[in-house]
Amino acid sequence: MCGIIGYVGRQPAAPILLGGLRRLEYRGYDSAGLALQAPSGRLTAIRAVGKVMHLTAKVTAELAGTPEVAAPVGIAHTRWATHGAPTEPNAHPHFSGDRRLCLVHNGIIENYRAIRARLEAKGHAFVSETDTEALARLIGEHYQGDLRKAVGQALAQVEGAYGIAVIAVDEPGVMVVARKGSPLVLGLGEGETLVASDAAALVAHTRRVIYLDDGDIAVVTADRVDIRDRHDVVREREVAELGLDPGAVEKGGYAHFMLKEIHEQPESVRNALRGRLDAEHGTAVLAGMGTSARELAEIQRIILVGCGTSLHAGQVGEFAFEDWADLNAEVQPAAEFRYRNPLVGSRDLVLAVSQSGETADTLAAVREAKVKGALVLGVVNVVGSTIARETGQGVFIHAGPEISVASTKAFTGQVAVLLLMALRLGRGRRLSLERGRAVAAELARLPELIGQVLAQNDAIAAVAGRMATAEHAYFLGRGPMHPVALEGALKLKEISYVHAEGYHAAEMKHGPIALLTPGTPVIVLANRSPQWDKVWSNAEECKARGARIIAVVSAGQVGGEQADERIVIPDCDPLVATIPAAVALQLLAYHVARLRGCSIDQPRNLAKSVTVE
Ligand code: G6P
Repeated sequence: MCGIIGYVGRQPAAPILLGGLRRLEYRGYDSAGLALQAPSGRLTAIRAVGKVMHLTAKVTAELAGTPEVAAPVGIAHTRWATHGAPTEPNAHPHFSGDRRLCLVHNGIIENYRAIRARLEAKGHAFVSETDTEALARLIGEHYQGDLRKAVGQALAQVEGAYGIAVIAVDEPGVMVVARKGSPLVLGLGEGETLVASDAAALVAHTRRVIYLDDGDIAVVTADRVDIRDRHDVVREREVAELGLDPGAVEKGGYAHFMLKEIHEQPESVRNALRGRLDAEHGTAVLAGMGTSARELAEIQRIILVGCGTSLHAGQVGEFAFEDWADLNAEVQPAAEFRYRNPLVGSRDLVLAVSQSGETADTLAAVREAKVKGALVLGVVNVVGSTIARETGQGVFIHAGPEISVASTKAFTGQVAVLLLMALRLGRGRRLSLERGRAVAAELARLPELIGQVLAQNDAIAAVAGRMATAEHAYFLGRGPMHPVALEGALKLKEISYVHAEGYHAAEMKHGPIALLTPGTPVIVLANRSPQWDKVWSNAEECKARGARIIAVVSAGQVGGEQADERIVIPDCDPLVATIPAAVALQLLAYHVARLRGCSIDQPRNLAKSVTVE
């Protein structure tokens, strides 16, 4: 969603803030802004519509020759609009009524209308349509020389989610930050302290970080941080060491982060598998499941929750839990979970699947499942994220930072981890040693299998070239390839804006087939599987209506030669094959989007992590 970075130190803040915003830009990119504080306390704000580069140009032009160039304190924000269009007045920072303090904010103030009405009745003239301005003005109302106190008093009246950073004219060199439901991490440097909504913005400056807890308010200066919890009790929070490699958040010679991340998958999946496969016993060793073998054996049902791409990963997992672990598994969109009053109990295992670990709906599902007494585990990428911390146990996917808004390596990492979990649970049940060993051996091949798909980049680009002008596309699959079809369609629509639908192959004839016109691309996941002949019949039905069939088939497979185009993935176990197939569809979407000249890493209207319901 939106991104925050703040700096209090001795160096000029502006370049540090702009550098941080660039690293955060993937989270939101419709407008951006910053405020600088001179040593005298004076505040200067600059905002711009569009990407961070527009703000950078404006800051460079406006600050040239002014003392603010050297201002050592500042806060900055990149926005993904929720309340009010992406305009300059709606961009952050927002100011109090007397303009003596300003703030940047992630999240949503749910009762902002009431606050705004109250303040307007007192004479406040709002200049934006945002919920954030109401909070800035409310803090201003409480301010009597103690910024921390004013922030605490204002937040006590606020409902909703927030991560904020505030600076005031009267307290030079002090930044107050607070979080509830929206992540904030402090970076501790030498004579400087940073705050960010995402550790990726800090790696260039420090590795020593403190993740704030919900309800924390911290007073930050260049040399110290003073954290108080929701009960106003002073807290010493653990200082964690960031494992992020600064290079991991650079493009490294690739045209786009998405392409880089697609190509990182042999390595990212290897990281997900590292040390977790026990070939001899045909099982997986997953310390993060933290639960005793007996407890795991007693699980009766698995419920997977997630949103977007993570939901699709969960849907692949569902098949693996049923097939390998003989477990009743179901997937629920996280947004629906708590509202349907789910039947969940102590013998259910709820798996929260989330790249960011911050998605509001998934987090809400975690909390609801915990209230209902279920065992809740996270399948999360970002260490230190809220879902990772609130679940307290789970299996990290170790995909490294994913910057492109369209998720790629996180998806394959999630599927890999879910397959490991299914193997582990299966071996604790009826999966035989022999089958377990065969599955473990197949999983171990994954980095190589993905590499074989990547080696066909040019061939897939050529297929993309022949479908790049189509305005509609359909993706069909059965069994575990059905969610891969959904994911392939999602990837294509996210980054190329081609209207794409994923369907269960057998469902096509029950309606969607009416939409086919001669030449419509239909991508059929027709790899080797027990249902191959069924899938192929469904493809033939489309071909008979003039569709252009692009078949994803297994190497050496007999059949499917009538397809108009073929993308070959390595021959492997049908559940394991979901990963190489997904990689092929990622490349297909990427090349279609490239040929259509789209903004691949930052598609319109999307955000990397959605921290609102
Ligand atoms: C956003 C992103 C998607 C992602 C979804 C869930 O919509 O654009 O790529 O799949 O959120 O995010 P999560 O971080 O929970 O996996």
